[in-house]
Amino acid sequence: MLRALELARRAWGRTHPNPMVGAVITEGGRVVAEGFHEAPGGPHAEVAALRALGRRPSAEAVLHVTLEPCCTHGRTPPCVDAILASGIRTVVVGARDPNPAHAGRGLELLRQAGVGVVEGVLGEACVQQNFIFNHWIVERRPLMVLKVASTLDGRLVPPAGQPRDVTGPESRADVHRWRRLFPAVAVSADTLLADNPRLTARDEGPEHAPLRFVLDRRFRTAGHAGLNVFRDPHRGRTVVVGLASELRASDAAWFEAEGVRVWPLPGRPEEFLGHWSARCAAEGVVGVMIEAGPRLAVAMLQAGAADMLFAYVAPRLGGDPNHSPWFGSADLGLSDVTTIPMGKDVFFRGRVRGGS
Ligand SMILES: NC(=O)c1ccc[n+]([C@@H]2O[C@H](COP(=O)([O-])OP(=O)(O)OC[C@H]3O[C@@H](n4cnc5c(N)ncnc54)[C@H](OP(=O)(O)O)[C@@H]3O)[C@@H](O)[C@H]2O)c1
Repeated sequence: MLRALELARRAWGRTHPNPMVGAVITEGGRVVAEGFHEAPGGPHAEVAALRALGRRPSAEAVLHVTLEPCCTHGRTPPCVDAILASGIRTVVVGARDPNPAHAGRGLELLRQAGVGVVEGVLGEACVQQNFIFNHWIVERRPLMVLKVASTLDGRLVPPAGQPRDVTGPESRADVHRWRRLFPAVAVSADTLLADNPRLTARDEGPEHAPLRFVLDRRFRTAGHAGLNVFRDPHRGRTVVVGLASELRASDAAWFEAEGVRVWPLPGRPEEFLGHWSARCAAEGVVGVMIEAGPRLAVAMLQAGAADMLFAYVAPRLGGDPNHSPWFGSADLGLSDVTTIPMGKDVFFRGRVRGGS
């Protein structure tokens, strides 16, 4: 199952809206075939492993798969059918399908057909690997992750004249890995204008651009042709999100000429985050990492708009006195917490209580 998890991870960030899934077939305890789900529309991991085997599995063959095999027709036929047709008699599963409409059904069908099923092997790791998918498939709205790089006293902006990075290189590299996983990232207009970030993943392999949201209720970024997200080769993956009532025809024309998309949202300013989430859901964007400055972070917490918090905390105190701590007056607990030392920093990842 460890190997299956490793295989699944090869498709890091490339399976949305589907989960990452890996599969290994063993015979007599030896690996004879492997597979993983590479991209939506492509074969599921179990089918990829069966194809890689290229022959009928032997009587003692065992299929190990990180996620419960599907039992319904999606873009591909049900994997349960492929497993039964292959003659495999034992299936070892990591996580159950979190979709309430399916959960356990694939396993039940296998058992009814006389296949031996073992479940929950490395279950927690298999569940965790697909935390974005798990949220999406149950809630049918994107997982909104508030990410901050903070000092011990909650400062996101260093004092004037000091280096702009609050946290160390290990934390920054980790953020790039998440930018490769999440289908989308977001920043405010203020942060875009202050820092001109590229918002791409440049950790390993070719530069990768997730969908890049600019949260800009009043379209203040219009006309700023020098911003990286408006002029780099990935600018077709930049979406400026603002209030329809604030969009002037001349600004809409400017964005269009730059090849940048615009989402004008209905409603009042305080309803913005909710409408944005709904539009993401409608467009099939399953998760967003919001790289918030202090005011957007406070606004998200106040609005209950953050499902998870990713906090990189550096061992230092103090910041620009013009910026308040990012948590405002929030009284916040996290659940399902993972804590990872990262160079000199500490990374806290957890679910925001009261979120879903
Ligand atoms: N260390 C870190 O993790 C980190 C991350 C990002 C940025 N920063 C730093 O933060 C500084 C900028 O901080 P900031 O406080 O000025 O910017 P910010 O928090 O990134 O964004 C503030 C803007 O967000 C928008 N906003 C506020 N409430 C909102 C709501 N309910 N819904 C939608 N949008 C809302 C507002 O713009 P509109 O009213 O125009 O919509 C507001 O002006 C920069 O110096 C940057 O370097 C640090």
